[in-house]
Amino acid sequence: MTDHHAIRPRRRGPRAALASVAVVALAAGTALLYASSANAAESTLGAAAAQTGRYFGAAIAAHKLGDSTYVNILNREFNSVTAENEMKINATEPQQGRFDFSSGDRIVNHAISRGMAVRGHTLAWHSQQPAWMEQMEGSALRQAMLNHVTQVASYYRGKIHSWDVVNEAFDDGNSGARRNSNLQRTGNDWIEAAFRAARAADPGAKLCYNDYNIDNWSWAKTQAAYNLVRDFKQRGVPIDCVGLQSHFNAQSPYPSNYRTTLSSFAALGVDVQITELDIEGSGTAQANAYRGVVNDCLAIARCTGITVWGIRDSDSWRSYGTPLLFDNNGNKKPAYDATLSALNSGTPVPTTAPPTTAPPTTAPPTTAPPTTAPPTTAPPPPGNCSATVSLNQWPGGFVATVRVTAGSSGTNSWAVTMTIPSGAAVTNTWNAQASGSTGSVRFANVSYNGRIGAGQSTEFGFQGTGSGSGMTPSCSSS
Ligand code: G3I
Repeated sequence: MTDHHAIRPRRRGPRAALASVAVVALAAGTALLYASSANAAESTLGAAAAQTGRYFGAAIAAHKLGDSTYVNILNREFNSVTAENEMKINATEPQQGRFDFSSGDRIVNHAISRGMAVRGHTLAWHSQQPAWMEQMEGSALRQAMLNHVTQVASYYRGKIHSWDVVNEAFDDGNSGARRNSNLQRTGNDWIEAAFRAARAADPGAKLCYNDYNIDNWSWAKTQAAYNLVRDFKQRGVPIDCVGLQSHFNAQSPYPSNYRTTLSSFAALGVDVQITELDIEGSGTAQANAYRGVVNDCLAIARCTGITVWGIRDSDSWRSYGTPLLFDNNGNKKPAYDATLSALNSGTPVPTTAPPTTAPPTTAPPTTAPPTTAPPTTAPPPPGNCSATVSLNQWPGGFVATVRVTAGSSGTNSWAVTMTIPSGAAVTNTWNAQASGSTGSVRFANVSYNGRIGAGQSTEFGFQGTGSGSGMTPSCSSS
C-alpha cells in the first residue's frame, strides 16, 4: 500500500543568514575577491543547488559514457541524471513482453555509483513507442501500456527519484484538449490509470506529469495541465510532481510569468521540477534567461530541482541553437556562470507564493514587535543533527526514506547509523554512502549533500530485502 509519508516533499525552514564569505584566489598573479552574502560559494552546479536542498541534473546518453570530456563534466557538475532516450518505451520493451534494460542500466549504474539521483523518463508517451505498440489500439493497448508501466517501474523500484509517468498528453495550440493519440483513444482515464500502476509498482518514487509549453501561465496548454493536476489531487489520484520541460527559443521564449506558473502548480500540493531545460541563444541574453529560470525556481519552496537537456551544445537535440551551459569543447559558457552564481546567491526560500507586488520595505508596526519571534516552524532540533525514517514495505522488501535535519549550527558532513533488522539487508542506497548491508549500517553523506543549513533537511534512501520495521536512526555530524 502506498505510504505518502515516504514521498512527502522536502519542507525547508527559512534559511539562516550565513556570514559573508570571502574567498581570495590568486590567478595569474592577480588577487580576485569573490563574495557571497548568502552562502559559501560552491564551484559546481550540483553542490550549489544542494545548498538549498535541490538537485541540478542533466539528460545523458549511455553511448557517450566513454567520452572522457563528457563524463568529466557530468561527474564534476551534476548530482542528478535523466536518460535522454534509454528508458523510453521503444528502448525498454522493443518487442512486446521482451524487456531490455541494458542501456538504461548503464545510466542508472553510473549515477548510483556516484551518488547521483535518477529521474525516470518516461513510462507512457505517444512518441517513441516501439512498432508493436504504435499499431495497437483499445483495450489491448491499455493493457500493454499498464503492463509496461508496471514492469519498468518495478524493475527500477527504489532507484528512481522521480518518474515522468506520463509525457506530453496535451495538444499544442489553444484548445486545451488532450492530444489525439492511440493512448488517448483507449479512454480519457488512461493518464490516471498509468499513475495508479506506477504508484503500485514503485511506491517510493515521486510521480510526475511532464510536458512542454506549460511554462507560460496564460497559455491554454498550461491551464489544461493545471486542471489535470488539480483534478487528480481532488480525487486522490496519486501524483507528486509536475515536470516543466522548459525548452525555450524564439517561438516559445522564457515567459515573464514563469514564476507564477511554478507557484501555481506548487500551490496544488505537488512539487515542480524543471525537467528538460535548454534556452537557445548565446552570450548575455542567454545567460540572463538561465539566471531568471534559476531564480524563479529558487523562489518557490516546492521547485525541487532543475535538469538541463544535455551537457555540451553539441549534445543537444537542438545543437544549432547552442542552448546549453557548455560549448562544443566542454568549456563553460556565460550561461554556466550565470546559473552557478544564481544557485550560489540562494534567494531565500519563501513560505508562500512570490508577491506579485513589491513587498513593503518597512513593516507597518501595528503592535509592538515581539522580543522573541514566535516559531512558525518547529525550531531546529538540539544537538547537531537528527534523523527520521519512513518506510514503504511489501512482502519481502522495503524502501526507507531517511530525512536528516541539521541542528542550530548546520552541518558540513553527517552520518546516520541504523540497525537493520535481523533477516533484512540493504541492497542499494541513493544520496548516501552505506558501509555494510546488515546489522549496524552507517550511511554517510555524499559530496553534494553534506552541508545542510541550520534547521534545514536533506533526504536519502535505501532499498532492502526482508522487513525494515523497527529501525531507529541516529545522526551525528560535524
Ligand atoms: O540511435 C539512432 C541511430 O542509430 C540512427 O542512425 C539515427 C537515425 O535517425 O537515429 C538515432 O536515434 C535517434 C535518437 O534520438 C538518439 O539520438 C532518433 O532518431 C531520434 O528520434 C531521437 O530523438 C530524441 C527525441 O526525444 C525523440 O522524440 C532526442 O534524442 C531526445 O533528446 C528527445 O527528447 C525529448 C524528450 O524525450 C521529451 N521532451 C522533448 C525532448 C526533445 O525532443
